[in-house]
Amino acid sequence: MWSPEHEVFIAQIDAEHRDLFQIAEGLEQTMEAHAQPGEIQERLHALAAHLEDHFSHEEWLMQSVSYPSYGWHKQQHDTARRRLKLFAPLIEGGETEAADVFLEFLAGWLQDHTGVTDRMMAAFVRNYERAHATDALERWGAPSRSGGGVRARTAAAAAAEAGPFPKTMRFCKMCGDQTTHEIRASGLACVKCAERAVSAELDRD
Ligand SMILES: [Fe+2]
Repeated sequence: MWSPEHEVFIAQIDAEHRDLFQIAEGLEQTMEAHAQPGEIQERLHALAAHLEDHFSHEEWLMQSVSYPSYGWHKQQHDTARRRLKLFAPLIEGGETEAADVFLEFLAGWLQDHTGVTDRMMAAFVRNYERAHATDALERWGAPSRSGGGVRARTAAAAAAEAGPFPKTMRFCKMCGDQTTHEIRASGLACVKCAERAVSAELDRD
């Protein structure tokens, strides 16, 4: 069961975690209700797909900020991937004991992983954003020498030179919506704009 103690304070990652807990619970309930194999298979596939999307998203996010503990974090994702690969055929074959063992593993894994590993990643991402926002602010408001003394440039002069106020670390450059992740080479983009850009690239190919 998802609870606020699993929160990592990056909105999109938290939403994905909530979905993950919900999908895992759905699978558990389906198994307990001795549902038809087709339904169990459907829920298992949904779990596998969500897990992979979510892991890939986190791994991309970590790479985009050069997260130093990327290898350690990815190793934990890989352990969950390997477990799922091992158990999926057994669960699909209706082996309830295998489903129990896997779901118990997943519950413990999610608890530890979201509570410690993902929180560390999220703290790093937030601090990365703050550091870069500070860099941008320094560029924007750097003092200049004028009339024999150093004084801060006027806001108008600084804005004329550096462009609009640098709030890009918190707002999508493309649609302007607030976002906390998806840092692309061109700056910060929200998930929707990043996905749109990728599919536009694929369409062109
Ligand atoms: Fe993770």
